[in-house]
Amino acid sequence: MSHISINQQRQRGKISKYIYGQFSEHLGRSIYGGLWVEPNSEIPNTNGLRTDAVKALKAIKVPVLRWPGGCFADTYHWADGIGPANKRKKIVNTSWGGVVENNHFGTHEYFELLKQLGADAYVNGNLGSGTVQEMSEWVEYMTFNGTSPMADLRAANGHKEPWHVKFFGVGNESWGGGGNMRPEYYADLYRQYQTFLTSYDADHPLYKIASGPNVDDYRWMDVLMKNAAPYMDGISLHHYALASAWEDKRPALNFPENEWFSLIKSAQKMDELITKHSTIMDKYDPEKRVGLIVDEWGSWLQTEKGTNPAFLYQQNTIRDAMIAAITLHIFQKHVDRVQMANIAQMVNVLQAMLLTDGPKMIKTPTYYIFKMFLKHQDALAMDTLDNLAETTSASVSKNQDGYFISLCNYGLTAADTVTIDIDSVIHTVTGEMLRGTQMDQHNDFDHPDAVAPEAFTATTHNSHQLTAKIPPMSVVTLQVNTEN
Ligand code: AHR
Repeated sequence: MSHISINQQRQRGKISKYIYGQFSEHLGRSIYGGLWVEPNSEIPNTNGLRTDAVKALKAIKVPVLRWPGGCFADTYHWADGIGPANKRKKIVNTSWGGVVENNHFGTHEYFELLKQLGADAYVNGNLGSGTVQEMSEWVEYMTFNGTSPMADLRAANGHKEPWHVKFFGVGNESWGGGGNMRPEYYADLYRQYQTFLTSYDADHPLYKIASGPNVDDYRWMDVLMKNAAPYMDGISLHHYALASAWEDKRPALNFPENEWFSLIKSAQKMDELITKHSTIMDKYDPEKRVGLIVDEWGSWLQTEKGTNPAFLYQQNTIRDAMIAAITLHIFQKHVDRVQMANIAQMVNVLQAMLLTDGPKMIKTPTYYIFKMFLKHQDALAMDTLDNLAETTSASVSKNQDGYFISLCNYGLTAADTVTIDIDSVIHTVTGEMLRGTQMDQHNDFDHPDAVAPEAFTATTHNSHQLTAKIPPMSVVTLQVNTEN
């Protein structure tokens, strides 16, 4: 049994739509094959971008897309990815399997993708192996409106108008693959590099993001905030859910019951991480100006048999749907600090929205959570009084019609009866549910709709109280229309 009480006066603040952000790296088939197929492909595409993927992603209103990495960002030299495609440099992707990167997807193709999706840009710059000048010129290339060497080059490459870059990251995981730096050193480099990232569009200054801690490295956060907080708008945090130790990735399918719970427990650690990192940030930024940007999160499981292990291709089950719902609920609890989050990664890598196989494409259970939660984007998070069953997670937001409630019962066998008290008159309730009947239920290319949302009607209500019976292994959303 769970109980939730909604009081109109108890609000946490706006849920930034950017916490529903995505991430796509030059890694495996995330971009090549998953999104980009070349304009002359037999796979239906618009300007080289898969029509089916763009259509599916538009339906979840992707607000922002982080690119080009990840680890790859700190090896990426943006000038390799502009100009005629057949003249672009072929490089070795040293981060992910040593495969050839032909640079056919570069800056122009990224902004074409954003245009098709209606998403904002989050470009991650190369601090690990690039220069200040290179990073500075990329910003000039993308955003300067007028005559300048980089703006002229952009125009010569077919795009006279500047693009709008909302977010810019200065390095990635600089404590590890991004340079193995100490926080003191990175803090100084961050201050230096960001100095030369000019906001050419005064109405839309760049939102600059520093490379943040590895999971629970609280010292990194402390040193960065102490030495560089005034120079940043956000600082990143990465945390992946693991069912066992990092060196012992567990299978995405056919896993035992204890791994259902160990993976979920690992995802739930996000709450503790955000709380502890925020407390450190509060010391240096009590007004909470600097955002915590969780720009990599999701489940990291064993790669699928028969695929290149460096490509991080994993199946996605109803368990991943639980991870997504629980984590998004945690972000919505911390709206005062979490200004953006980017699940890793959008297509064919880690906890993906979409999986592709040649011309075929399927939507994963995680995709459906993002679709079912659309009404939370930019809504007002409510600070509810909860008494929840051990395996129930919930979040409530307010919209113009009433309240939007998402509930997740990650128990394996028992339904949970959730009673919700609302201090306004309930008119109508409409519900949707994503449900599994076995732990590793998933969609595959032969069964693309094995897991898909259905209408949810197991509710009763009177004027101020609503009761919903939530099956095990399910996520339910309820739109409750009320009269104030
Ligand atoms: O998302 C895959 C990788 O995980 C990213 O490239 C890196 O930043 C992280 O370690």
